[in-house]
Amino acid sequence: MFEVIAERYDRFTLLFSYGMDRYWKRELLEELRAVAAAPPVVLDLACGTGDLALGTRTQFPSARVIGFDVARRMLSRAKHRARATHTGARFAAADMTCLPVRDRTAHAVLAGYAIRNAPNPTFALREIARVLRQGGLLLTLDFYRPRNALWRRLFVGYLRLAGNVTGWLWHRQPVAYGYIAASIEHHVSWQDLSDLLATHGFRVRRVSRKLLGGIAIHVASLDEATVAATAD
Ligand SMILES: C[S@@+](CC[C@H](N)C(=O)[O-])C[C@H]1O[C@@H](n2cnc3c(N)ncnc32)[C@H](O)[C@@H]1O
Repeated sequence: MFEVIAERYDRFTLLFSYGMDRYWKRELLEELRAVAAAPPVVLDLACGTGDLALGTRTQFPSARVIGFDVARRMLSRAKHRARATHTGARFAAADMTCLPVRDRTAHAVLAGYAIRNAPNPTFALREIARVLRQGGLLLTLDFYRPRNALWRRLFVGYLRLAGNVTGWLWHRQPVAYGYIAASIEHHVSWQDLSDLLATHGFRVRRVSRKLLGGIAIHVASLDEATVAATAD
């Protein structure tokens, strides 16, 4: 599906979020700067067209930044943007649940609207915990399933309608963007993600909630004791 929408992904994200996506991503990158002075290796999982990877490399020009995604067309747009802006981020094809990266390599992992797309968040979190170094950082931005039933119905219902209409108008495929609502219904709440992070050895440092918990930015670090225990 992301192969189909790749050409219009950036425009869609801007329109669908009423421009807020830019501010949320900027906030995530500001959070990264606040907690990491100069991270040498940063991975951007499910990087799409590269917003976070390119933003990170602009912020930390000496960092080695690699974006991974499974959709060839999303990656080719990311590479094109990197070339056009002379931003030295690199991009490669890989599944976020099985990364071609050695254990304990990354100082920070970024995940924009990423973990929700894994078959199960646990698969992604386990892999992130594997590739992060001791004390390494995970910053995620994503949609979540609001716990409040009334707000969930309104929020998910609006996204379903708006997504289906846009998908039909732009691609004659309602599911192209309607999938967002379905993926939220099958996803966890932001509170559950915090608990899952703790289960996988992360310390949640901060959660910034948007849209009554329908969107959240988590900033977490991999507990050093957990890394030592898994290394033994
Ligand atoms: C909503 S886009 C997010 C793109 C970008 N991170 C952003 O913040 O704009 C989701 C991306 O996840 C990718 N994706 C889906 N499943 C994946 C997987 N298992 N491993 C890696 N990428 C995946 C899709 O190809 C798509 O580019």
